[in-house]
Amino acid sequence: APGSPALTPPMGWNSWNSFGCGITEAQVRQAADAMVSSGMRDAGYQYVVVDDCWFDPNRDAQGNLRAHPTKFPSGMKALGDYLHARGLKFGIYQAPLEKTCAQGGGTFPGATGSLGHEYQDARTFASWGVDYLKYDWCSGSGTRDEQIARFSIMRDALRSTGRPIVYSINSNSFHAPTGDKYDWGDVADLWRTTEDLLDIWQSNSVNSYPMGVTNVLDVTAPLAAQTGPGNWNDPDMLVAGRPGLTLTESRSHFALWALMAAPLMAGNDLRTMSPEISALLRNQRLIAVNQDRLGIGGRRVRDDGNTEVFAKPLSDGSVAVGLFNRGSGTTTISTTATQIGLSGDSFTLADLWTGATSGSSGQISASVPAHGVAVFRVSGGSQIPNTTARLRGAGANRC
Ligand code: GLA
Repeated sequence: APGSPALTPPMGWNSWNSFGCGITEAQVRQAADAMVSSGMRDAGYQYVVVDDCWFDPNRDAQGNLRAHPTKFPSGMKALGDYLHARGLKFGIYQAPLEKTCAQGGGTFPGATGSLGHEYQDARTFASWGVDYLKYDWCSGSGTRDEQIARFSIMRDALRSTGRPIVYSINSNSFHAPTGDKYDWGDVADLWRTTEDLLDIWQSNSVNSYPMGVTNVLDVTAPLAAQTGPGNWNDPDMLVAGRPGLTLTESRSHFALWALMAAPLMAGNDLRTMSPEISALLRNQRLIAVNQDRLGIGGRRVRDDGNTEVFAKPLSDGSVAVGLFNRGSGTTTISTTATQIGLSGDSFTLADLWTGATSGSSGQISASVPAHGVAVFRVSGGSQIPNTTARLRGAGANRC
């Protein structure tokens, strides 16, 4: 949205997937410590986002939000200070309704949503040092116009604090089951495109809760033109490293989210992650693709059913390409430089998993395991202007 501090996709960690409504101050601090000690902070992860259930179920006599007295006994300002002292940024959760999602669902008491308190809450967040707000419309009621109006109030409230606060919205609980195809670029810095992503590869419910990696991919990939600096499609927090995915599936999920220019918000328990997942989340070659300053969302340029090709043009003239195998057996997937929008006679392919490079006269091909993705950065040619413009879409023109 205008004035966005998120010129590249936000990177960080969110408490929800691993801790849900039970989240405590101690767990947030441990996650922050693990983000530092694992090297994730130095790899680019910044935001530590405390999701639902951090607050006192009652506002104070002046209507101010306060921290939950036993779950967050030191208070939210102290938590923000703890994060900032470690070079991290502080994210928090609220709702544009009377109740947060957990309150609406009856799993947490009270009705402390921001409805009617938007400017007051934005000032409170700024006074605590909040750098990121996740604002969650978790209700089946309300029209699109009401959503736009209420989400816009908090955008203005946050911007009026003078503090750069990334504005992340979720309109989608209302728009399930088909996903939210609305372009929220004037309203928010990032916006959820689907219902919640769980650690499932593919859900039989296809487009409704619970959604799997391939379900969310299929709703979000066609929306690539909406993505650009300050405007990000949000295919939800990462489930990489969660128990329901194999290591291959976690790797594919991370690579596909990187190619989509999606926010990279880890959702696994950082205190106990395996060395393989830690290395995956810190893959600097994929992070560089995700964080490229052009902010182009990768497009699906080829779809042969069980095999697909994604291409993401990058600011140095190269193109990142993903060869994705949805099928149940290893298969060879091929594309060409022309198909991913590059002209020229000779190219260098850098394998983004291994870092190994090889030469090519235009053929891009790899043997890809079931549920796997091969990813390369293809350089040496020139981006074909028309193709690049088509790949880039309208989103990048907005800035
Ligand atoms: C909704 C959101 C989730 C999470 C929960 C919290 O389900 O989509 O990401 O924030 O609410 O209750």
